[in-house]
Formats: sequence, C-alpha cells, structure tokens
Amino acid sequence: MIVLGIETSCDETAAAVVRDDRAILSNIVFSQLEEHRPYGGVVPEIAARSHLVHIDDIVRRAMAESGIDFAALDGVAATGGPGLIGGVLVGMMTAKAIALVHDLPLLAVNHLEAHALTARLTDGLDFPYLLLLVSGGHTQLLVVEGVGRYRRLGTTIDDAVGEAFDKVAKMLGLGYPGGPAVERMATDGETARFKLPRPMKARAGCDFSFSGLKTAVRQCIENLPPGPVTQQDAADLCAAFQQAVAEVFADRVGNAMDAFGDLHGGAGALVVAGGVAANTRLRAVLGALADDRGFSFVAPPSRLCTDNGAMIAWAGVERLRLGLVDGLDFAPRPRWPLDPDAPRASAGAKA
Ligand code: KG4
Ligand code: ZN
Repeated sequence: MIVLGIETSCDETAAAVVRDDRAILSNIVFSQLEEHRPYGGVVPEIAARSHLVHIDDIVRRAMAESGIDFAALDGVAATGGPGLIGGVLVGMMTAKAIALVHDLPLLAVNHLEAHALTARLTDGLDFPYLLLLVSGGHTQLLVVEGVGRYRRLGTTIDDAVGEAFDKVAKMLGLGYPGGPAVERMATDGETARFKLPRPMKARAGCDFSFSGLKTAVRQCIENLPPGPVTQQDAADLCAAFQQAVAEVFADRVGNAMDAFGDLHGGAGALVVAGGVAANTRLRAVLGALADDRGFSFVAPPSRLCTDNGAMIAWAGVERLRLGLVDGLDFAPRPRWPLDPDAPRASAGAKA
C-alpha cells in the first residue's frame, strides 16, 4: 500500500510518499519561514497564498523523488484540520483533485493524529502508548489506544508550550521560530541565575499552564539594567526558561505515567511528538524519566517531529488499512479535537 500525503495546516508546504512497510519513499518540506519572519510569526493570509504558489511543485517533487507514478498510489491523504483554514483548504483541494483524476481514495487526516501516529512509522510501536504532544498550537498528554482512539489525560489551560518558546524568543529579539533559537541560546546559559516558576508542578492531574512562565520571563527582562539585553542575559534566561519547561514536563508526564499504569496495568512506552519534541534538552529529560519509571522512550527524529508530509501519508496508510476513507465532500475542520469526549480544561483551554 502506497500513499501520498500533503501537509499545509501551518507554515510548511509539504508532501511525501510512504509505503505501508514504513518506508518513506520521499519527504519534501518547503518552509515558509522567510516569508513570515519579518512579522515575527505566521501570518495566515501569507501562509495560504504561499501554499497555493508552492503546492503543485512540492507534490510534483515528492512524486518524482519517490519514483512512483500516480497510477501506482493506493490513496491520497491531506491534513483536514486542525490548522489555519486557508492552508488546509489548499492542501485538501489539491488532494481531492488528485483523488478525482486518478480515481484514488481520499483520506482526510487530523494533523494531531498524524503527529500521534508518527512513532508507529519510525519505530513500529504497538498500541497503547502514552503520548506527550507538544507543538506550536497544542500541549497535550494522551493515551493512544488505536487509530482514532485517543484518551486525553491533560491539556494546557492557556498557552501551548511552543507558543511560549516563540514568545520568549520574541521578547529577547531572537527571531522566529523561537523554539530552535531559545534552545541554541540556552546551551551557553546558566539555569540558576534567574528564578522562574514551575506552573502546575506538584498539582494533581496532567494539565499544563505556560502563560505565567512567559510573564515571569518578561518581568526578568524588565528588571534588567536599562539598555539592550546582553548575550549572557539572553542565554541565562533561555536556559532558565528551558529548565522550567523541562521540570514541568517531568512532573506532568510522571502523573500521566501513573494514569497510564492504572488504565493499562503497568509501564509502557512514552512517545514525544510535535515541533517542541525536536528540543534535545527536553528529550533528554523525558528519556531519563522514562528510564526511571520502566517506560521505553520513543522520540522520532527531529525532521519527523516538526510538520511534514510523511506523517500525513503514514496516518493515511493507517486509516486506509482500516477502510476509513473520506468522501470528496469532506469539509476542512479548523478545530478538530482528538478526544472530543475529554472534559473541558479550565477556562481558556485551546483544545
Ligand atoms: O508541530 P510544529 O512544527 O507545528 C505545529 O503544528 O504547531 O511545531 C512548531 C513549534 C513552534 O512553536 C516552534 O518554536 C517549536 O515547535 N519548536 C521548538 C523546537 N523546534 C521547534 N521548540 C523548542 N525547541 C526546539 N528545538
Ligand atoms: Zn504540527
């Protein structure tokens, strides 16, 4: 079974061809970073237009590199949400056109499900497993019980963690996207110089909160001597921020491991996915925690943690195997929770 996957929900225009034996035949990612950089964040209208300009070429390149003809495909998958509606429409319309012309099944993929299933593409992991999904728009702990079967243990009650990384970077003038910039700065920094809070630490449950942490960073900057922030100040602040996030992750994931044990009778696998999972320090902390608790630890390679077409194609393979095919009348879903039955988190929750 071979599936073409298209991703256009945010600021990457991506396409990939993946086979059901987990071979990635091609994986082309065009990052719109340069187009959004002057604005310090993703501008939805610019993103939608850029997807439109690039999508045909990216799909053509993914097909050419895979060595597979459209006629040899078994399905075409595209992100159907959640995400920026303009971009999702571009990817979905492209997929529908290909499906129609080549008489292929269409698979409308939930972007979060694609992040969630990536560990099965990279590591062949069996269900169930515990997932920490950390991206620019989401911060969730979930038990992945099967394709389409997710039990949410916790979510953020305010900002997503990737958003917090991006805002900290913006405050320090480190540019966009913030995550990689903060990580780079933190390597030369001292974690103990600035005292930052660990929001939600030692509380029951698995919810997160990052807005207070972000505000605390802002206050540290305001309390610095007048003038531009020095390299050392920025490095120390980044290190302190990253350390606070690491400790919060360890605390929240620890509780989620208890919940996983109650549900499934013991330890299992901990998977980390989404853009923030590219962070080396956070991966190391989670890996050590997993070791400590008898969980195996799976972190897909960074290029498969940030948005890409291979994860969409793979989710398409998983759905196609189960006959979960969509009609050409599928309507994109800007909001599409993985676990619609999860109780709402406190006010302000994003998902
Ligand atoms: O999953 P993703 O590529 O797109 C969304 O679906 O949101 O995640 C993007 C987020 C951004 O907030 C970015 O700053 C963050 O992931 N990110 C990182 C790192 N690389 C990307 N955060 C921390 N450390 C990194 N190395
Ligand atoms: Zn994503």
